[in-house]
Amino acid sequence: MRILLGVTGGSPRTRRSSCCACCASRGAVRVIPTSAALEFVGAPTFEALSGEPVSTEVFDDVPGVQHVALGKGADLVIVAPATADFMARAVAGLADDLLTTTLLAARCPVVFAPAMHTEMWDHPATRSNVATLRERGVHVIEPASGRLTGTDTGPGRLPEPVDIAREALALVDAPLAGSVETQDLTGRRVVVSAGGTREPIDPVRFIGNRSSGRQGVALAQAAAARGADVTLVAANLAQDVTDQVESVRGAAGRLACSVVRVESTAELRSAVRAAGAAADVVVMAAAVADFRPAATPGAKIKKVPGQGPAPIELLENPDILAELAHERLRPGQVVVGFAAETGDASGSVLDHGRTKARRKGADLIAVNAVGSGRGFGTDSNEVTLLDGTGEVVGAASGTKRAVADAVWDAVVKLLP
Ligand code: CTP
Repeated sequence: MRILLGVTGGSPRTRRSSCCACCASRGAVRVIPTSAALEFVGAPTFEALSGEPVSTEVFDDVPGVQHVALGKGADLVIVAPATADFMARAVAGLADDLLTTTLLAARCPVVFAPAMHTEMWDHPATRSNVATLRERGVHVIEPASGRLTGTDTGPGRLPEPVDIAREALALVDAPLAGSVETQDLTGRRVVVSAGGTREPIDPVRFIGNRSSGRQGVALAQAAAARGADVTLVAANLAQDVTDQVESVRGAAGRLACSVVRVESTAELRSAVRAAGAAADVVVMAAAVADFRPAATPGAKIKKVPGQGPAPIELLENPDILAELAHERLRPGQVVVGFAAETGDASGSVLDHGRTKARRKGADLIAVNAVGSGRGFGTDSNEVTLLDGTGEVVGAASGTKRAVADAVWDAVVKLLP
């Protein structure tokens, strides 16, 4: 596989070099830095890491028509880091150096991993450029949140090189090589629930929630990549997340992941318990409806003009996570839950998470803040990991895949 790694200015030198090393585990990497990138890391470093010559200008190797040949012959192009300036140039279709001309010639999957200060990432010009790139089919990875250059912190940080390489390689159906990916779940069976349950009111209506299933699917993908035999119990995933699942299953033979589709809490409960009976780990990442309508008529409920809405009587659903934690379907089974919290007058996100951890009895609870654009439907997440007594045992932020790997790191420590 021929991978082109475009490198632009900005972000620490170690991360750029690691991106190159991670990609090199899967194919021949040719690095194309912009001239600004060479101010940070010199060409000899990239040449040593990739084992290929490094050029920046369109006028290098004119007889070989390099500025077109490289793009045409590539199987994957990754630009990491991609600065705000570079994205604007790509949107405008500029062709004034080797990287921009290569992008215009490339017909393979193209991945941008932006890195910049939060204010620049949030600026309407950058948002609009990112939207345009995505409309044109470029896969733009959400930046991680954390320490930026200088003393600033916030979204805009270049994700971990291994995460960029993994996400990019998944687009060409090539999981990271074993040397980079840890295989610490080999021989383990895991069950992950993802998405949000829907409780039917009548044949056309339901009570649901905003969960896209992104975090659960990232957990399933991460576990499969680490060698586990995975059952994903998928409740009403968002369409783009369903497509992601299909791409994991398309990689059959390398990743073991079977998918059981469910709608309601009752269906999710039976599917999780059936697969959980033989599992070493059960992770309840699904957002489960706490209540369901007491009756579900077979015909659509009709509006009677002027009479107002008919009341809907609700019954409490079983708490699947608490059941699993208290019963343990298998000796030594590790049970993991999530706690989606907004915080309120009676306590912070973490206060509510602690109470929930003690009430549910799971071995691990990942507490995340939701609402106001956080958590649901986004590509990134931020969680605090608590044990069953409510003690903080870890924290993670970044892409949902990075959070998933942090959860598995904590689970591995609990496995007998
Ligand atoms: N959960 C479950 N069964 C339910 C409700 C929740 O298994 N009936 C699981 C979720 O999959 C998640 C954890 O419990 O792992 C916490 O879910 P959450 O919705 O945050 O908590 P609730 O128990 O519903 O409490 P509340 O709605 O009061 O926050």
